[in-house]
Amino acid sequence: MSIQTVKTTPFSDQKPGTSGLRKKVRVFQQPHYAENFVQSVFDSLEGFAGQTLVVGGDGRYLNREVIQIVLKMAAANGFDRVLVGQGGILSTPAASHLIRLNSAFGGLILSASHNPGGPDEDFGIKYNVGNGGPAPEKVTDAIHARTLTIDSYRILDAADVDIDSIGTRQLGDMVVEIVDPVAAYAELMEQLFDFSAIRAMIAGGFTLAFDSMSAVTGPYAVEVFEKRLGAPAGTVMNGTPLPDFGHHHPDPNLVHARELYDRMMAPEAPDFGAASDGDGDRNLIIGRHCYVTPSDSLAVLAANAHLAPGYRQGLKGIARSMPTSGAADRVAEKLGIPLYETPTGWKFFGNLLDAGMATICGEESAGTGSDHVREKDGVWAVLLWLNILAARRTSVVAIMADHWATYGRNYYARHDYEAIATNNADALMAALRDSLTSLPGATNSGGTITAADDFAYTDPTDQSVSRNQGVRVLFDDGSRVVFRLSGTGTEGATLRVYIERYVGTDGDLAMETSDALAPLVAAAQELADIAGYTGMDRPSVIT
Ligand code: G1P
Ligand code: ZN
Repeated sequence: MSIQTVKTTPFSDQKPGTSGLRKKVRVFQQPHYAENFVQSVFDSLEGFAGQTLVVGGDGRYLNREVIQIVLKMAAANGFDRVLVGQGGILSTPAASHLIRLNSAFGGLILSASHNPGGPDEDFGIKYNVGNGGPAPEKVTDAIHARTLTIDSYRILDAADVDIDSIGTRQLGDMVVEIVDPVAAYAELMEQLFDFSAIRAMIAGGFTLAFDSMSAVTGPYAVEVFEKRLGAPAGTVMNGTPLPDFGHHHPDPNLVHARELYDRMMAPEAPDFGAASDGDGDRNLIIGRHCYVTPSDSLAVLAANAHLAPGYRQGLKGIARSMPTSGAADRVAEKLGIPLYETPTGWKFFGNLLDAGMATICGEESAGTGSDHVREKDGVWAVLLWLNILAARRTSVVAIMADHWATYGRNYYARHDYEAIATNNADALMAALRDSLTSLPGATNSGGTITAADDFAYTDPTDQSVSRNQGVRVLFDDGSRVVFRLSGTGTEGATLRVYIERYVGTDGDLAMETSDALAPLVAAAQELADIAGYTGMDRPSVIT
């Protein structure tokens, strides 16, 4: 086995987005493409010689091939040991946990999260640092800079490693350990939650359905919900990870998790339904006849977390991304703890969690998590809900009604306009930004505008500043419309419009969300001329 130095030339399109580098599989299949990016990651890091790397992915098409490349390159670049999930499988939160548990230097997670998989679909590589979380911007910026100058990469000339049987094997001077992808993660969940109370609730007739969407959470969900908590076989739907996710779009929202939604709205619905995404970090929560928005879910989890053993001491703070609704803010206020508003993307939560400033974090995009790892965590969110239901002995509908009666309700929706020509999307955002100073005081269908800005964030732990994180328009009744472009898409641009209206405890808490938000939807059109710039008269997806 010899180390080869392979000459290469840069690719101009390897800038990591909201969550790592995501491209079409065919882009990743170009000669040297994956290798260039992996070498650029290694070249941007210092001090990993003799250290451990964690590698795994969500099982999507190309996962196994890229794992072999990573292993041979890690060996050629001087890592001492690589931990790989059996079969190349690791959910994103499980990878984060393994990094922390083993004091690894970092990890490479192979996933395009909720994007579809298959030969014509998406693939991705994300680097996570030693705290288990996504690399912060200064690291991803360094990686990107390196991709633009790279002229060679190092790779071991060796046969493929058997990643399907658990055990330790040698690759050059490096040790490869194939580990059970689920065991350590399931142990962590048992430490955080009252499994015996949940088990008793299920034994007493409580029913649930968990849709793994043919993605990575299948083995995790079967182990936790069926084996450890005693839910009957079949509780986990679509539980086998498939390279193309069985042609599902593994995004747990009301459009792509329709099968689960319909089941939860049927007369004989289970008590509780949930779904996760491609790599297991997102969650969708639907009670019997009751959809819970991710923003509300964050607020409910924060308000009730003390009912779970792992959070009995209370929360240090709550963090949410800027476009996420303000429902959690009211909980933080009542608990007397700080609320942090960060840009979109989990990487911004890491510093707050490391500093012990926040315990629970969440995003409107179905991401919720805590300081147990440094990623959002779908199965964790479901377990916290189950723990709360077991402790309060009531239904999801009743919990939501009680929550709104206590805090008021943040009606909320996100409208996505997908596959817009990039220049049109950029022009729309530029026009919006140009209009910002003239907006305060103006009136439109949403009411009178009190403030408008382009969100900028100063990280309170290291004072780093992130600008241009989304245009916010605030109205005098506390309503809000936010516009930003997606940083995870692989085709054209996606415009996300986030719409929120707060109704206090004395207001109408039982409206249809679309009715409650209709004036603000009209205001969004007036502010950004979405139809004019996109040629679309309605969003591609409403969540
Ligand atoms: C989307 C979500 C964001 C999430 C990210 C990764 O990013 O909006 O909240 O952190 O996926 O799962 P976007 O496409 O909006 O940049
Ligand atoms: Zn994901």
